[in-house]
Amino acid sequence: MVASPSIRSQSGKIRRVAVVGGGLAGLMTTIKLCEAGVPVDLFSLVPVKRSHSVCAQGGINASVNTMGEGDSPRIHLEETAYGGDFLANQPPIKGMADAAPAIVYMLDRMGVPFNRTPEGLLDFRRFGGTLFHRTAFAGATTGQQILYALDEQVRRYETAPVVDHVGVTIPGETMVRKLELWDFLGLVLDDGMCVGLVAQQLESMKIKAFAADAVCLATGGPGMIFGRSTNSLICTGSAAGKAFRQGAVYANGEFIQVHPTAIPGADKLRLISESARGEGGRIWVPKDAKDKRAPKDIPEKERDYFLERMYPGYGNLVPRDIASRALFQVCFHEGRGVFNPTTAKNENEVYLDLTHKPEALLRSKLGGVLEIYQKFAGVDPYHNPMKVFPAVHYSMGGLWVDYERDAAGSLKAGSPRNHATSIPGLYAVGEADYQYHGANRLGANSLLSCLYAGMVAGPAIASYRSSLPRSSSDVPSAVFEAARQQEQDGFERILEQNRDAADGENAWKLHAELAEVMLRDCTIERHDDRLDKVLDKISETEERARKIRVPDDSHAMNQAAQFARHFENMLALSRVVAQGARNRDESRGAHYKPSSPARDDSRWLRTTLARYKAVGDIEFMRAFDYSCAGQPVHVTDAVDVSLVAPRERKYEKAGAASAGSAGESAHG
Ligand code: FUM
Repeated sequence: MVASPSIRSQSGKIRRVAVVGGGLAGLMTTIKLCEAGVPVDLFSLVPVKRSHSVCAQGGINASVNTMGEGDSPRIHLEETAYGGDFLANQPPIKGMADAAPAIVYMLDRMGVPFNRTPEGLLDFRRFGGTLFHRTAFAGATTGQQILYALDEQVRRYETAPVVDHVGVTIPGETMVRKLELWDFLGLVLDDGMCVGLVAQQLESMKIKAFAADAVCLATGGPGMIFGRSTNSLICTGSAAGKAFRQGAVYANGEFIQVHPTAIPGADKLRLISESARGEGGRIWVPKDAKDKRAPKDIPEKERDYFLERMYPGYGNLVPRDIASRALFQVCFHEGRGVFNPTTAKNENEVYLDLTHKPEALLRSKLGGVLEIYQKFAGVDPYHNPMKVFPAVHYSMGGLWVDYERDAAGSLKAGSPRNHATSIPGLYAVGEADYQYHGANRLGANSLLSCLYAGMVAGPAIASYRSSLPRSSSDVPSAVFEAARQQEQDGFERILEQNRDAADGENAWKLHAELAEVMLRDCTIERHDDRLDKVLDKISETEERARKIRVPDDSHAMNQAAQFARHFENMLALSRVVAQGARNRDESRGAHYKPSSPARDDSRWLRTTLARYKAVGDIEFMRAFDYSCAGQPVHVTDAVDVSLVAPRERKYEKAGAASAGSAGESAHG
């Protein structure tokens, strides 16, 4: 039974909080809120079990050290800070790394079918940026297994009654109300505070405002702004983009992760998990760039295992930014991608080879992902090397969120500042926030950061809610009606605008044009002159977007109108990414400029903070003020690197990523 001292508002309504997004971060936030006695409205664009977390393959990091390698949360912190090129504030990473083993054990107890060793212990595999076996996994469908386990937990709360402070059940109210197929349209703001949201039901297209004492966005990343990526089609970043347009600060937007190994494809780029390399997969190209032989016929000594050659310490498991750049160098700059005798061209593809591993082992540890390769490439990956190339995968940047540091250098439990955005009452978790990964995320830290963020944000939101002088349910209904009407007008405008114009623009076509430029010039390698052209293209697209004419003007299941609205928010985030990249005159993690190839801590060891002013106008700030739970907070762009001192980042030597541990642990 769940009780809360302040379950009703003054007007007698049940005080609820809204979580938007049903992936790992959203579900964990929901669970933690329910544990704290806070009823939740859980909104999801798709059925919760289709959230993008379902695509996560390789695993979740936790320094459990079952193999006796000497791994520890301290080393996990160091390698995450180092892997992120020191751009992440370190207290949140420390909290995450410390919590990771307990999180994995909790998932195990929930029934996640993790692979086990012959002794029955949890099995761990290697992932990028570490030499330790730190990644727990459920075959190669880890995200799906965890998502389903959390979904089961949330379903319990969908039937759990809300009870008041004396234990009386409130009729008709359940701890979780799940609203699937609802699209977030915008926040309801009252005097600068977030008091609810407006959402649209995607079958009826009905638009409704919901009161919420706080709103937590767990809406994932913006990968779709690059068109083809490993992301699901729902990953437009629209909700975060809209919150940004409504005043929330966006941080480190220019840091976009490109995963080294995906299946090249015309529609989408399907991920081939880093775990394939964690289980021994090797990347190579023929030494002779014109070699026409089938890969199996090319002898070992005629193969260039270039990652192993360039980075002997970490080999195929260098972090993603480094691996992707190396693949790009080999294919784009050196023209040594795999030769295709039919087209007589070197393609932008390299081999990812698992054929030296026993088939039974591959089936038990990588079956899910190898099945994807077989299905979409039409080639048996157990007996033939796969052909892969980098693909946009993840955004390290996201909505700026706060944290409060405790005396031990970790996060202060229950502080309302943890995961608070710059809009009072708005929180963000998961890929929608920017908190844990700095300039480059280590593989398998993403599921972990989603879960940890949810575990932190739940109590933080509960504290925030307790601090409120009044519930959002007591805010005058006119405030909600005005917000709803504004979104309704926006929807009708999209349906009606340019209806009779011969030169009406198609939103998908505009998107495809812009995405092509973003993908080419705003990912692995960035050049200022090309970024200027990207920015021009964004301006041109913003102008043309005013003339979008949707091909469907119906008020039912109108995907064209929905995409046109998302696209407005995607445009705002495209500008954040491109302008942030243009501004940052250095190379750090995933942001690489050949014209300034070195990291420059004296000028750029700082968080990019962006604020939206108007279409085409974004302000980049060194500091800002906001208020949380009634307390003013001054925020600067300084990065807290007090736990692991920044040093040069190199992966040539084994152990480099944690080499600083002995000397620096005193700071922790
Ligand atoms: O390669 C992968 O399995 C992806 C994992 C991640 O992005 O963390």
